[in-house]
Amino acid sequence: MWLLRALREDASVSAFRIVVLASGSGTNLQAILDRLHGRDGVEVVGVASDKPRAQALERAQGAGVETAVFPRGDYADRTARDAAMAGWIESRGVNLVVLAGYMQLLSDEFVARFRNRIVNIHPALLPTFPGLDAIGQALAAGVDVTGVTVHFVDEGVDTGPVILQREVAVPAGRDREALEAVVHATEHELYPEAIRMIAEGRVRIAESGPVSVVIDE
Ligand code: GRF
Repeated sequence: MWLLRALREDASVSAFRIVVLASGSGTNLQAILDRLHGRDGVEVVGVASDKPRAQALERAQGAGVETAVFPRGDYADRTARDAAMAGWIESRGVNLVVLAGYMQLLSDEFVARFRNRIVNIHPALLPTFPGLDAIGQALAAGVDVTGVTVHFVDEGVDTGPVILQREVAVPAGRDREALEAVVHATEHELYPEAIRMIAEGRVRIAESGPVSVVIDE
């Protein structure tokens, strides 16, 4: 009994703390809140946005998670905005910064400060279709299979080391809405799964050779 209680107390002290950055509707944030937050030692300890009216902020508030807004226009430049945001994140004692539809480029200083501690989700099988409108790019290219990628963030656009990928078949009829629905449903499974693996300490950057991710079973 005593041992069990001690273990639980220890688990709460060493919770894996994440902050989510989101600019839009926040359905990936919602999946993380529903499937991860408060379980297996993972805590969402903050949600920040560049958009004061982002629906993601309402979702966070609904879950009792603290929020902050860092609009670009409130700061001299992107570096200053990101420095303020980094300070807020660090004050929360964060293990991982999770980008979930965050539509701003991060400054190199921000990426360096949280090196290998920032992840992003992208609606394509990177390195194919990086950047904006990856779903539209897949349809325009005429592929039959696209997918979802979770990756670490580096200084490039969608260029960081890949953690997990899952394929998605383009639905017959190649309807954009139908493809979006299946891609998003896949994201909502894959992102919590990848973050849980990181929280469990199973994901690391290879020590030698080209920068790549090693998953420990
Ligand atoms: C997702 O498609 C994600 O892959 C991309 O931005 C979108 C965010 O959607 N990076 P939501 O705000 O989580 O609903």
